[in-house]
Amino acid sequence: MSKMISIIDSKDHVGESVQLGAWVASKRSSGKIVFLQLRDGTAYFQGVVVKSEVSEEVFALAKSLTQETSVLITGEIREDTRSKFGYEIGISTIEVVGESHDYPITPKEHGTDFLMDHRHLWLRSRKQHAIMQVRNELIRATYEFFNKNGFIKIDPPILTGSAPEGTTDLFKTDYFGRDAYLSQSGQLYMEAAAMAFGKVFSFGPTFRAEQSKTRRHLIEFWMIEPEMAFMHQEESLEIQEQYVAYIVQAVLDNCTYALDVLERDTEQLKKYTELPFPRISYDDAIDLLKENNFDDIEWGDDFGSPHETFIANSFEKPVFIMNYPKAIKPFYMKPHPTRDDVVICADLIAPEGYGEIIGGSERETDYDKLLAEIKKFGLSEDEYSWYLDLRKYGSVPHSGFGLGLERTVTWVAGIDHVRESIPFPRLLNRIYP
Ligand code: 4AD
Ligand code: MG
Repeated sequence: MSKMISIIDSKDHVGESVQLGAWVASKRSSGKIVFLQLRDGTAYFQGVVVKSEVSEEVFALAKSLTQETSVLITGEIREDTRSKFGYEIGISTIEVVGESHDYPITPKEHGTDFLMDHRHLWLRSRKQHAIMQVRNELIRATYEFFNKNGFIKIDPPILTGSAPEGTTDLFKTDYFGRDAYLSQSGQLYMEAAAMAFGKVFSFGPTFRAEQSKTRRHLIEFWMIEPEMAFMHQEESLEIQEQYVAYIVQAVLDNCTYALDVLERDTEQLKKYTELPFPRISYDDAIDLLKENNFDDIEWGDDFGSPHETFIANSFEKPVFIMNYPKAIKPFYMKPHPTRDDVVICADLIAPEGYGEIIGGSERETDYDKLLAEIKKFGLSEDEYSWYLDLRKYGSVPHSGFGLGLERTVTWVAGIDHVRESIPFPRLLNRIYP
C-alpha cells in the first residue's frame, strides 16, 4: 500500500509511490496523455496519465473525469520545473470517490452575483484558496504577535447591552423579554479585562447593521481588539505599527505561493514592514485635502473614502491620522489635554485605497467626565454602571485599538472587495449561503 499524503507535502516524497485524495479542478487531454489539475485543499498540482504507462481502463477513466469529481489516486511524485508549484504526480491508478456532474463554476467568466450565490463552491477556486491562506496567516501571526508581547487573550461577550460605537447600526435581538444587541465591538469589556490582566486582546466576530454598500463594509466582520493598562496613546501607536508590520512580514514569509497566485507585488508589501509609519493630525489632513481642491470637506467632517484614498496616496506606507474632532468620535475617547475640540485617537489608513484598517484611542479615565459623556450621548447610566466602576476602583491611563481582519486581508491580498476576504460574507443584501 502506498502512503497517503497531502499535495503540499509532495517535496518530501519525490520518487516515492504515494496515494492521495483530491478533486479534479480541470482536465486537458490528447490522444496519448491526460493532464489533471488536482486539488486537495492544501495545494494544487498536476497529475499526468500517460496511455502507454497505465491500463486501458485507467486511461479511459482519466479521460472521462469531470470537473470536481473526487478521486483517490496512486502514483509517483516527480519534480515539475515548468510549474510554479514545482511537483507533479505520475498517475498509475484512479478510483472515483464521488461523481460530479454539471459543476456550475466553469473556467469561463462568471458574474459576481452568480459567484456569490455559489460561494460554498467558489471557495474551492484557486484565487479564493489563496485569499483564505493569507487570512489564515494573518490570524496565526496575530496570536503569535500578542502572545510574544505579553498579551493574554480575553473573549468579550457577543450578546451585550451596550453600544460602544453608537446606536445607529445595532443588531437588536430579544433576550428573554429584554433588548440585547450583537456586539459591535468588545472594547468596553476589554477595558475591564485590561484592569484585571494588564495587556489583553480579543479576536472575535462583530456586527454592524450598516446601510453601507461599499467595497469596505461587511455586516459581520472579525476584529482584533487589544487593550493596555498604564499606557498612553503614543505607546499604543508603536504597538499598532509593530503589529501591522509583523503580520505583513508573516504573510511575506509564509504565503509565497498564495501571493504569487494573487499576483501581489511583494516589493510593495515589504515597504509596509518598515517602521515607523507616518503620522499626521486630522487638522493637517484637512489642510492637505483643501490644498488639493477637495471642496466637499470642512473641518469637523468625517472622511469619506475618496478623502482617505487621497491621504493614503500621499504616503508610501500606512498612515496614522491623529486627533479627530470630538464630535465625530465615540463617547469613551479622552479629550486632548490642550484642546477640548479634539480627542486622543488615531485611525490607521492602509495604502492603495484600502481605507481605515485600525481605529483606536486613549480612553477617558475620569469618572465624572465619563458619566457626563454617557449622558450627553443619550446612553443609559444604568447600563454603563459597570463600565463606570472601572473609573471608580483604581482608574489608570489606558489605550487600545481595533483592527478589522477583513479589511486587512483585502489590503494584504490586494483584492478589490472585502466580500472575498471572509469565507461566507454577510452583506446588506446577502445572507445566502
Ligand atoms: O473604528 P472602529 O469602529 O473602532 C472600534 O470599534 C473600537 N471600539 C476599536 C477599539 O478601540 N477597541 O472599528 C475598528 C475597525 C475599523 O478600523 C475597520 O478596520 C473595521 O474595524 N470595521 C469594519 N470592517 C468591515 N466592515 C465594517 N462594517 C467595519 N466597521 C469597522
Ligand atoms: Mg473607525
